[in-house]
Amino acid sequence: MASPVLAPLQGMTDLAAPEVFLWQRIEDAFREVLARYGFTEIRTPVLERIEVFARAIGAETDVVQKEMYAFEDRGGRRVALRPEGTAGAIRYAAGAGATEARIFYLGPMFRAERPQAGRRRQFHQLGIEALGPPSPAADAECVALQAHLLDAIGLDGFTLRVNTRGAAGDAEAVAAGLRAALAPLADGLCADCARRRDRNVLRVLDCKQPGCRTLVQSLPPVTRFMAEPSRAYLAEVQRLLRRLEIYAVEDPLLVRGLDYYRHTIWEIAHPALGAQDALSGGGRYAIDLAGRTVEGVGFAMGLERLVMALQARGVEPADPAADRRIWIVSAGDAVREDNLVLAQALRRRGIPCSLDLAGRSLKAQMRAAGRAAVRRVVLRGEQEQARGVYRLKDMRDGSERELDLPALIEALTG
Ligand code: HAM
Repeated sequence: MASPVLAPLQGMTDLAAPEVFLWQRIEDAFREVLARYGFTEIRTPVLERIEVFARAIGAETDVVQKEMYAFEDRGGRRVALRPEGTAGAIRYAAGAGATEARIFYLGPMFRAERPQAGRRRQFHQLGIEALGPPSPAADAECVALQAHLLDAIGLDGFTLRVNTRGAAGDAEAVAAGLRAALAPLADGLCADCARRRDRNVLRVLDCKQPGCRTLVQSLPPVTRFMAEPSRAYLAEVQRLLRRLEIYAVEDPLLVRGLDYYRHTIWEIAHPALGAQDALSGGGRYAIDLAGRTVEGVGFAMGLERLVMALQARGVEPADPAADRRIWIVSAGDAVREDNLVLAQALRRRGIPCSLDLAGRSLKAQMRAAGRAAVRRVVLRGEQEQARGVYRLKDMRDGSERELDLPALIEALTG
């Protein structure tokens, strides 16, 4: 068995060709769509002061309590690897005094969870944050953007569930209402939920234990305990979504695991994913950091899960340059240097090309070209060099043509 030193840590993965081609295709498609909506990229550090996450996400959440890679840095400060992107993006916005902005991020996040299919300790999110005051139109646009991004990469068959966390002023009435509704059912709750009922009763709604899952089905929807404007807000989001031809199922048990949410929340799932079926999740939030409040709406999608869902649909990663790539094969040592110069000239003209730099035999070079499955090979030996020509071989039918340099470039770029 190979040494463990040669493998990444559990729950973390190397990403290389060919799979990385699929990732790049997704990322390129996302960037293109995001530009149409006026979002610009932000790259925040992966390491932050721990209080950025504790204050933004909520000290009582599972993410902060159980899943963060937290440690003391050399200066004795408590720091953590980011478990998600919203907290850092909002820390940036609050620091810059920005209250209206449209930003997105794409990068690795870290959660010390038990790894399984679709659940990694290092995973990647594309997240967007549209900062601004509460507005059902902004929320609907954000959901529509998400659907647009999935369309852009050709992923259909997903389901969209929405709910509301209500306004800040609803929180107490919702908690009290749920506690009261759970009182006669308390014996059926798991030990964790018995504790959650007092401390963080919303969490009972998304408990994964079969007993609790059955029991919560009989609870009244959280909206019943909210003030009318909060219910009207969700209804308005739903109306706008229908106008945008997006159909969301209202799920009264959807709560989302992060404490910063207010009003609209949603989750997109895909049946191809199995147990960890959430492709993405988001919602409206209000986050207080160092006395500054930032409001906005956003979501994040797990790229590993997007890739899994696409692969389950039969999408294969492919080198985007494969069709156009050529191999330059040197017949004899005297032409190698010239062919290196030729390769650079062709690449500068936009032609992807490869050649052997290790002095391998003609046969070995042809084998390498075969392995790379290139369509065309440029063969060049001393004879061709002396006559100023290039032999262009079509690997599919074996035909060959002799061309001068302008004609070669024309043939390769045309
Ligand atoms: P989240 O629901 O915690 O939300 O994560 C969003 C997505 O990240 C999930 O739906 C899933 O696809 C992916 N994900 C989460 N944990 C893992 C994991 N361990 N392995 C693989 N994929 C994972 C947030 O992070 C919020 N910041 C979203 C947001 C942005 N809300 C408002 N703005």
